[in-house]
Amino acid sequence: MPLSTGASVARGARNATARVSRSALICPQCLRTGPLDARIRTAYAVQPRALYHSTRRRDSAWAAAVSVAGNIVSNAITRAKGDMPTIDPLRIVAKEMKFLTGNIRKLLGSGHPSLDRAAKYYTQAEGKHVRPLIVLLMSRATSLCPKAPQRQQATLQASAAIDTSLSPLSILSDYNPSAANAQAEAETADVDILPSQRRLAEITELIHTASLLHDDVIDHSESRRGAPSANLEFGNKMAVLAGDFLLGRASVALARLRHAEVIELLATVIANLVEGEFMQLKNTARDEENPRWSEDTLTYYLQKTYLKTASLISKSCRAAALLGGADAQTVEAAYLYGKNLGLAFQLVDDMLDYTRSGQELGKPAGADLELGLATAPLLFAWKTMPELGALVGRKFEREGDVARARDLVMQSDGIQQTRALAEDYADQAIQAISGFPDSEAKDGLIEMAVKTLQRQK
Ligand code: FPP
Ligand code: MG
Repeated sequence: MPLSTGASVARGARNATARVSRSALICPQCLRTGPLDARIRTAYAVQPRALYHSTRRRDSAWAAAVSVAGNIVSNAITRAKGDMPTIDPLRIVAKEMKFLTGNIRKLLGSGHPSLDRAAKYYTQAEGKHVRPLIVLLMSRATSLCPKAPQRQQATLQASAAIDTSLSPLSILSDYNPSAANAQAEAETADVDILPSQRRLAEITELIHTASLLHDDVIDHSESRRGAPSANLEFGNKMAVLAGDFLLGRASVALARLRHAEVIELLATVIANLVEGEFMQLKNTARDEENPRWSEDTLTYYLQKTYLKTASLISKSCRAAALLGGADAQTVEAAYLYGKNLGLAFQLVDDMLDYTRSGQELGKPAGADLELGLATAPLLFAWKTMPELGALVGRKFEREGDVARARDLVMQSDGIQQTRALAEDYADQAIQAISGFPDSEAKDGLIEMAVKTLQRQK
């Protein structure tokens, strides 16, 4: 029996005022389309007000966001759970997910034994595979949506030769000892997910894993997925090079989809990830010594969060719809689902960094403050606790800063505010796909939004 639709979930009891106001904190249009430089400059210096469509609502928008913690009645989980039995999104695309890790490893083979080992290292531990799972669900859900006639040729082309090189192999000189039999299992998978979409799911995991290899070097991480991090196991140099290798092989796989728009989207994701990471090197756009709290601080954080996390999810959802030959409205809905889900996902991640232990997370907890990062829980706390400004300015570097900042956040409603904002984005993700025809895959996507809020690691 089909579960209730996203529309009915999203139509549930909603605190409309809080929702509109919180959404006004950042303009989704600017977030998506504005050049990053302009967005940042606009956010803090030149014309701060231009970032928002409604300038008069700025103060009340923030006030509403802050007041949300006291009356979280618009709870996406409660509403979604109200009339929906639990569904397991993994089960819906189980056949494809079963082959995911094996296929990814086949894309990563190198004749150089140490590189082969380092490149495949993060495929050993069972990751959550959230991104490929979402891509596969989106592929199935959009297979039932209206098609764009002009996209059908590209759709056929994209799936026809995903393992066939464009240049002669002798020119490529890129021997992959793992590549043999790459298609054998794929043939047993469902027909409503195209080979190109399956490959896209693998590419998203490759890009994500490459970013983790680099991120763990940058963050001096010692563990990942409950095991020693790659930088600890192989050293920084090999970990960075392995990440580069993953990006190289992801790019080759992407090119072999022979779909220029999808290549542009995913290549932009790689640039976005780096931009996001650069933004994260500063807590505020001006990087002042003793910053004062302002709404622009949260805007900066949300832009960074889009680039660092939501870009990959949103653009790969869009790419899945494109590869399926979907019409423009469906492509846009897929993108909006991914963008809102990605923002919710990172907000929850930043919240868990305060609320869970390292053992529970399978990676160090409380890492953000140790790394000098001011994430959403602290940014919300800072509004009512101005003393946090000096700590933010010196990136919690002095003895006792981390503990003090953590105490202040815990005394504040920063965690609840973060959760409320995550719920709002999850809700918007569900709403984005409300026009899709009812299907198990659509329910799976709704459940992913619910699970994003429920996850504990
Ligand atoms: C995890 O963040 C990191 C990311 C989501 C992106 C990192 C991006 C780069 C290092 C730029 C280079 C990108 C590529 C594609 C090579 P986190 O530190 O908050 O999460 P964690 O707690 O899981 O480490
Ligand atoms: Mg990290």
